[in-house]
Amino acid sequence: MTVTGSEATSMRDALCASVNEAMIGERVTVCGWVAKRREHGEHLAFVDVRDRSGVLQAVVEGSVDVRSEYVVRVTGTVSRRPEGTVNVRLATGQVELSDCVVEVLSAAEPPPFQLDDRASIDEQVRLRFRFLDLRRDAMQRNLRLRASVNRALRRAMDDQDFCEVETPLLWAPTPEGAREFVVPSRLHDGEFYVLPQSPQIAKQLLMVGGFDRYYQIARCLRDEDLRADRQFEFTQLDIEASFVSQEDIMGFVSRAVLDAAEVATGERPTTIDTMTWAEALEHYGTDKPDLRFAMTLQDLSAAFAGTSVKAFAAPTVKAIRVTDGASFARSRLDQLTEQAKSLGAKGLAWFRVTADGLDSPLDRFLSDEERLAIRNVDGAGEGDLVLVVADEHDLACRVLGALRVAIGAPPVSEGPHRYLWVTEFPMFEGVDDDGNLMAAHHPFTMPHPDDLDLIETDPLHVRSQAYDLVLNGWELGSGSVRIHRADIQSRIFTALGITDEEAASRFGFLLGAFKYGAPPHAGFAFGIDRLVAIFAGEENIREVIAYPKTQSGADLMTGAPKAIGERQLRELHLRLAPKGS
Ligand code: AMO
Repeated sequence: MTVTGSEATSMRDALCASVNEAMIGERVTVCGWVAKRREHGEHLAFVDVRDRSGVLQAVVEGSVDVRSEYVVRVTGTVSRRPEGTVNVRLATGQVELSDCVVEVLSAAEPPPFQLDDRASIDEQVRLRFRFLDLRRDAMQRNLRLRASVNRALRRAMDDQDFCEVETPLLWAPTPEGAREFVVPSRLHDGEFYVLPQSPQIAKQLLMVGGFDRYYQIARCLRDEDLRADRQFEFTQLDIEASFVSQEDIMGFVSRAVLDAAEVATGERPTTIDTMTWAEALEHYGTDKPDLRFAMTLQDLSAAFAGTSVKAFAAPTVKAIRVTDGASFARSRLDQLTEQAKSLGAKGLAWFRVTADGLDSPLDRFLSDEERLAIRNVDGAGEGDLVLVVADEHDLACRVLGALRVAIGAPPVSEGPHRYLWVTEFPMFEGVDDDGNLMAAHHPFTMPHPDDLDLIETDPLHVRSQAYDLVLNGWELGSGSVRIHRADIQSRIFTALGITDEEAASRFGFLLGAFKYGAPPHAGFAFGIDRLVAIFAGEENIREVIAYPKTQSGADLMTGAPKAIGERQLRELHLRLAPKGS
């Protein structure tokens, strides 16, 4: 037969789905798993053979002992299906293999679940038998999508003259701030490696080392609570470059992300919007605005400046309009109020917009001006609902921002893809339990040049040269211009309450290296798991990871984490404390 390309091997001629009408009359060998077997009378069977490309029907005469998921090699003649038996739902539905010889390469036990995309299968079972789950179309599609995204990212970085460098997994603490995974050392009694939360320090040292454009598709490990967009292990496209500005880095990253988007969706997004962190908070109540829907936060502070309503007597009064929200049941309003309170608000005020005013328990307390302000929020009309939170500025914004998403955010699978750069993040975010300022990004982030004077006097108003890339409400990635000057670094450490000794013990090798000629540098990293999940329309990044952990951090297939034996513990110089102590 005609060999159709690289899919041919010494065992097969073609992939199932590549067999087509142009091949009618040829003898073809395919390999795969038995997707389905149907008997037709005593001496005829239809066997659907499935491989990674799709399904092909083989018509087998005489007896053949194959069952679901047997691995077979089938040689047959490509034939047009008889009138009335064409299957339009199948890419190969016009043809079949006839006069087949079937060779069983491997027998199989019945699978514990149906390998069918339409069947709803318990995820625990899927993860326990992940090797079977991977045979399903959806998983094949997602992991291949991931591979094509990786390929596009690599190509984009190579084209932009970046050099791929692999950095160690056995490493020392990094400054990302999450809890770390620790690896005991056999050779160094009582000492430990730390698995990197990111290659942050390694890549900054590469800049000192003269690799002025570095990238890596890097594995990162963080022992943090798992969520839909978080795993212990995840993968970043990690970038660092010297002699660049924030805009240069944003340009490199935009090119890579847009290339990946084009490969994944078939369309190149035309724009990436930009917004400062302060604008994002003001209008969307979050540092990761989902621009797919409006419902922006409206400021009513001026109208309520002299209010006599106690609930609204606060520095900031913010509101959102929920289109057609007047029909929300009381239970839904109570639930939203609970959510607002759980986020720190004192309460949530709601107003149904009616033909002649407002319907709300608070309506009778409002002045005419206040009533008018609420009535006109964001062009509200009859049948809408207005939600109001009065509080300190940032809290009021964040609470309404969360309600906006809870009420309005479309599912991940719903387009369009709206990319957004958020810039000018604050340098510090609040204070820790010891009264020390906390770094919003990490302690090597360069402050905004206009705010250097505020580090000691008004630190919470210092902006940084840190920037995030956001897609549809998900934080895809973050980066910053780094501090390469010892004097600024020392002022930031002081502000963070990090003593010289502590800085030397935690980051000494980085700070020491900087004494030998540190170029100005900046970088970025974004989560490939998240990007691919959004491209695939999946709510959870587990769906785009071959072997993910469950919510509780278990690998149901291997049983990890597991106990290890006494001998191994001894070798590692470890003794276990009693369980639960
Ligand atoms: P950051 O900590 O913001 O920055 O991480 C960058 C991106 O990595 C992804 N990410 C995760 N994805 C899945 N599971 C997780 N547990 C997880 N944690 C983070 C997110 C996130 O935006 N070194 C800096 C970057 C830099 O400054 O160059 C860093 O790692 O998509």
